[in-house]
Amino acid sequence: MTPLKITLFGMVFKQLKCYKRLKWAKVPKIVKKNCWIELRVLIHPDLGEVVSNFLIEEGSPGVIQENALSSLKGKKECLIAYFPKDKFSGLKKKKIQAYLLNLGQPRRDISILRPRIIQEEKWAEAWKANFKPIRITPRIVVKPPWEEYSAPKEEIVIEIYPGMAFGTGTHPSTHLCLKFLDEKMASFPGQPSVLDVGTGSGILAIAARKLGAKPVLGLDIDPVAIASARKNAAGNKVGREIDFRVGTLNSLGRGFDIVLANLLPQEILSMVSLLTAQIAPGGVLIISGFLPGQRKEIAGVFAGLKLQIRQSRVWKGWACFVMGRINGRE
Ligand SMILES: C[S@@+](CC[C@H](N)C(=O)[O-])C[C@H]1O[C@@H](n2cnc3c(N)ncnc32)[C@H](O)[C@@H]1O
Repeated sequence: MTPLKITLFGMVFKQLKCYKRLKWAKVPKIVKKNCWIELRVLIHPDLGEVVSNFLIEEGSPGVIQENALSSLKGKKECLIAYFPKDKFSGLKKKKIQAYLLNLGQPRRDISILRPRIIQEEKWAEAWKANFKPIRITPRIVVKPPWEEYSAPKEEIVIEIYPGMAFGTGTHPSTHLCLKFLDEKMASFPGQPSVLDVGTGSGILAIAARKLGAKPVLGLDIDPVAIASARKNAAGNKVGREIDFRVGTLNSLGRGFDIVLANLLPQEILSMVSLLTAQIAPGGVLIISGFLPGQRKEIAGVFAGLKLQIRQSRVWKGWACFVMGRINGRE
């Protein structure tokens, strides 16, 4: 599968004129509604993947990877990220800067170009040119609504508008969850029930429903995410078939055959008992959002609640587990 990886020449040249070495140009305080902040980072191509993932985790729906000027080609890659204007605070800037400086690269090899304010229409144009269909599994494809894709009958196409919620399918943790979800669906007779904790754009819940799950419940603490999830579900014609709720996991009074949680490790660790309690007898928990180095800690905490790893996968620096009860059916 190829992640969002795009090559555009030319635009960078203009940008280099306002090149600032690890200095942030001021973004005007008055930012109009429906604007995005465009951020360009020049880095060594070896870091493209890891820095792209970081920028997605920080709120960019995806990252465009461009070759920099031909003289820099091979030595520098330009990453273009877009942040909703209200999520691009001074703190965010500092966090990104600190992250880049901690990559262990010489300072001269990392540059942040002047952040630019982009109107919604321009942002949409950039995305329309760059966000292409992504194949996740032999039968799942994720695409933005504007892309034409003629799918064979057996394929499931999930349309996601790359807006303000996490989950366009370009991040490895989403990708890993979708792959395990597809595989696990087949192991349940009939229609398995699915709970998606931290639904973001709704991508996993929508995939579950389109794969035949019923009922499907998606939770998120962020009302903006739930609004996006509802919009995306409606766009996929499953709006009435998924229950999206703002909130975090509390006892739901019923178990689910498949519980999905693509969350930060600290979030997972803070709800280990609740996640375990939501797994129906014979059900599984699919978790991601943590790094390979954190597998031991996470597995250890779930083991205390008699949950064991059934499958484990690492892809592009991210880890994902399928867990089930010790002595469970599967
Ligand atoms: C990494 S995103 C995952 C989005 C999507 N499920 C995917 O796989 O791409 C995590 C989401 O979890 C939400 N979240 C964080 N903590 C949460 C909590 N305690 N309960 C519910 N949702 C939470 C965030 O708002 C965010 O939308």
